[in-house]
Amino acid sequence: MDVLIVGSGGREYSIGYALKQDESVNKIYFAPGNGATDQLGENIAIKDFNELANFAKEKNIDLTVVGPEDPLVNGIVDIFQEQGLTIFGPSKAAAQLEGSKVFMKNCLQKYGIPTAKYIETDSLEEATNFINQMGEPIVVKADGLCAGKGVIIAQTKQEAIEAAKGMLSGESFGDAGTKIVVEEYLDGYELSIFAVCDGKDYVVLPAAQDHKRLLDNDEGPNTGGMGAYVPTPLIDDELYKKVEDRVIKPTLKGLEEDGMPFSGVLFIGLMIVNNEPYVLEYNVRFGDPECEELMVLFESPVSDMLLKAATGNLKDVEVKFKEDTYAVGVVLASKNYPYSSSEPAEIIVDEIVHEDLKENSYIAYAGVSRDEDGKLLATGGRVLVCVGLGSSIREARDRAYMLVGQVHFYGKKCRTDIAYQALKQ
Ligand code: AMP
Ligand code: GLY
Repeated sequence: MDVLIVGSGGREYSIGYALKQDESVNKIYFAPGNGATDQLGENIAIKDFNELANFAKEKNIDLTVVGPEDPLVNGIVDIFQEQGLTIFGPSKAAAQLEGSKVFMKNCLQKYGIPTAKYIETDSLEEATNFINQMGEPIVVKADGLCAGKGVIIAQTKQEAIEAAKGMLSGESFGDAGTKIVVEEYLDGYELSIFAVCDGKDYVVLPAAQDHKRLLDNDEGPNTGGMGAYVPTPLIDDELYKKVEDRVIKPTLKGLEEDGMPFSGVLFIGLMIVNNEPYVLEYNVRFGDPECEELMVLFESPVSDMLLKAATGNLKDVEVKFKEDTYAVGVVLASKNYPYSSSEPAEIIVDEIVHEDLKENSYIAYAGVSRDEDGKLLATGGRVLVCVGLGSSIREARDRAYMLVGQVHFYGKKCRTDIAYQALKQ
């Protein structure tokens, strides 16, 4: 089959990388892709969804896979489906789970899913009253999409009120903040769980742990994610079952009853408090960088799972993962990430002579482009992810960091402690 992948990050690179191993996949297109995805397929510079759907029809694309949230929230799936095309991802209506935190929290409440206590409001007075009744810290969230920056963990009530004021006035995040969610702070550890859904049935993928903060020991500002590993030992069968029974099943049932059956990936951002799962947020796509590790753990063809999800046939799917295998991914970011953009810098990757490393690692390219001489340049915030595989988290981690040592560009920075929570156990 021929596949179109929408997006340009490391997540989309890794989906392409996995699909390329599938015998049934013939040609891969990326829209728009990045400076390295052209090694896996062909980059297409079409942005408009209708034009892209026309392109997919002309080229007889069998499956379109949407990586990022923006096109999903803006209705790319509806447009493709109206044209009779097969596309992996939720409808515009269901994508509101990520597009609006108010919508998401209201769904959680309506479907009886455990989450932090909250109010939604557009009034500073109401927000202030709620804040004054709460213990500290307090979490203040802008309603709309803010590229991961719309969440403030306020250490004091005063700070929470200031954050609410900044958002509601439109100063902090423009229109995305004119409605807010104020909620209690949950103290536990975070997990990312992905359920691939077809509207009715679902497959739960092995749980991942991301590292959102810029610096070691979870210090510094929040980022899109500085590294992740899969599977994490911080979840056992009992906890998986709680997540299925209390979170995934009621969410899919509720959305179906409300006329917006969910298909695509439901990304459940969980906080585990005293061994109980609480939903922090839903996203409606694969996590980045979690996807970069997940994609190399499949034993069964990824294309088959995505196609069956997109066509409502997940009940017939057999999804298998490599046995006793772990993947650790370390993000290499550019000098000024996440504050501002950085000067383009040439990327040099040393030849990997070590057979063991060659066979058990790969680079997922994200914020990269090519100059006119064909040189690969670091041009984005998160430039690439070095992924190592191994029969233990430690082995996978060591390989990932060995690979980090083989990659050079000016200003390169990374965390040195990815997977530390698993390794200290
Ligand atoms: P979100 O975009 O809602 O996932 O929030 C981004 C990050 O803020 C999460 O990954 C958590 O680290 C943190 N966070 C969000 N909500 C809460 C909460 N209620 N309690 C503690 N931490 C939170
Ligand atoms: N890694 C977190 C995210 O993709 O939102």
